[in-house]
Amino acid sequence: MKKYSPTTLSAQCLLLFLLSYQQHLSTASENAQSKSYIVYMGERKHSDPSLVVDSHHTILATVLGGSKQEAAESIFYSYKHGFSGFAARLTDSQAEMMAEMPDVVDVIPNDLVKLHTTRSWDYLGLSSSHAASNLLTESNMGDKAIIGVIDSGIWPESKSFDDKGMGPIPTRWKGACVGGDQFNSTNCNRKLIGARWFVKGLLEIIKEPINTTAGMEYLSPRDAGGHGTHTSSTAAGSLVHNVSYKGLALGTARGGAPRARLAMYKVCWVTDFGDCSSADILKAFDEAIHDGVDVLSVSLGLGDPYILDVIAVGSLHAVLKGITVVCAAGNDGPTS
Ligand SMILES: *[C@@H]1O[C@H](CO)[C@@H](O)[C@H](O)[C@H]1NC(C)=O
Ligand SMILES: *[C@@H]1O[C@H](CO)[C@@H](O)[C@H](O)[C@H]1NC(C)=O
Ligand SMILES: *[C@@H]1O[C@H](CO)[C@@H](O)[C@H](O)[C@H]1NC(C)=O
Repeated sequence: MKKYSPTTLSAQCLLLFLLSYQQHLSTASENAQSKSYIVYMGERKHSDPSLVVDSHHTILATVLGGSKQEAAESIFYSYKHGFSGFAARLTDSQAEMMAEMPDVVDVIPNDLVKLHTTRSWDYLGLSSSHAASNLLTESNMGDKAIIGVIDSGIWPESKSFDDKGMGPIPTRWKGACVGGDQFNSTNCNRKLIGARWFVKGLLEIIKEPINTTAGMEYLSPRDAGGHGTHTSSTAAGSLVHNVSYKGLALGTARGGAPRARLAMYKVCWVTDFGDCSSADILKAFDEAIHDGVDVLSVSLGLGDPYILDVIAVGSLHAVLKGITVVCAAGNDGPTS
């Protein structure tokens, strides 16, 4: 249980007072200010993505006084491949009106999400040095599978993403290697077959540019934080022999499926505010479903259990398309 000394308590009361005072001062002018929301509309009603997008403009125009142009300007993502919906700037009352529309399942605030992490494969019996056959050897170490990772990006030069000995990219793959800061198509190979990045939802919340000085961040799939490189190599890193951490734990680094292909969907960013936005995460699901991943690895978690969880929404539609979704079960801490 937490204990508060009288001094901290009174300091907190003062802080609360200052916060509510500030809120009170700003209420009048900010009442009509827009925030970003996700309007989730469930299964697509059209197979043509451009018709899906048009239906988003039409439905939003009805709460914006009929202006389709205003609707198009307010929408910053249309979810059109795996499911239907959009992310847009709305006032609270517009969001309430949208939630009442018959085609709308729910309106979810665009929110921040935290990074989670995963652990070793060996307790699953998927040892690569094991003489006996197991799932790992029977599946040829995950050969032919495409794993999409929704995370903080990837460091493509890591030996874990070396494509030595790998066959051509599966022809069914529809993904892309999208460049940006210090990342271009030459950073993808037969191991890392796709990379995309999504930041609009986060920028809507933090309302300032991402700090890219001195490698703090890269506006590209390149991983500044390190979490996505860690989770990608945990899922599908190639075998890298004779590695250690400063001499400790010398051995072979490898993923659960060392011959599987990887596609990175970067949605998490190094900022002072938080990590990843729900609108960006949902866009990553939408694109990954389009690209043709077989498995999605999502080591992220939402804080607020009382709003519709975009990871659950994205996962539902991925699973309906036959994609296996693997999520973190939560490892925040050190508090319970
Ligand atoms: C891609 O990046 C590499 C390394 O930074 C650079 O040498 C190369 O010219 C770039 N290629 C393109 C097509 O921009
Ligand atoms: C960006 O990061 C650098 C390096 O940490 C820091 O010196 C600089 O003040 C930051 N800029 C902003 C606008 O926060
Ligand atoms: C492994 O690394 C150590 C230390 O760098 C080196 O002495 C040793 O020769 C390496 N072994 C192999 C098999 O590469």
